[in-house]
Amino acid sequence: MWIDRQNAPFIDSFCKQSPIIPVVAMHCASDAIPLANALLAGGIKVIEITLRTSAALESIQLIASQVPQMKVAAGTVLNPDQYQQAINAGAELVISPGITTPLLEAGQDNQVPLLPGISSASELMQIMQLGYSRCKFFPAEAAGSIAMLKALQGPFGQIRFCPTGGITEDNARSFLRLKNVMCVGGSWLSPRELIKQQDWPAITRIAQHSLAKCQVPS
Ligand code: 3PG
Repeated sequence: MWIDRQNAPFIDSFCKQSPIIPVVAMHCASDAIPLANALLAGGIKVIEITLRTSAALESIQLIASQVPQMKVAAGTVLNPDQYQQAINAGAELVISPGITTPLLEAGQDNQVPLLPGISSASELMQIMQLGYSRCKFFPAEAAGSIAMLKALQGPFGQIRFCPTGGITEDNARSFLRLKNVMCVGGSWLSPRELIKQQDWPAITRIAQHSLAKCQVPS
């Protein structure tokens, strides 16, 4: 019998908060709170901060402790050490671009669930074997895009994806219309230049515009 070791209901409710998730590399932790507030003002209630910069953990910590309405995930988590650092900073969800056995094992029955990244049927079978049924599809555009997600629906009907990598305001809706897509993520929602210029109203506008464009019938 297959057992959920990931906490799929938690991930479903987490992702339900926002069909589109900004994937952000923070270069300056002091921008974290105004960025989170700008996204919230635009209707976005989930943010993924990638552990690609030295400001990432502090940014997660600031948002988790000071912007309670914003759900914060740690992205680009590559190993169990980073997983623990993300938890310590206050991340509610940990996201990886790919899989390793140590990372998948760290995520099993963890209070802070893991959304592992996959891009093939074989990787899907590996994660399913360890009790996972929700994953990131990365890099979405390069790894087969909508055709690939449709093809995976047949053999893997119970799996739900968050595609990221190449998602834009223009193609997000086509992904969200797929039955096996729970949400999408991307960097288009918080462009580096706008963060650098601290142009928070512009980020709010992108969020509003993108959400309006992504409305899918429920
Ligand atoms: C990710 O980590 O999910 C991606 O780097 C985001 O990809 P994008 O920049 O193409 O949106």
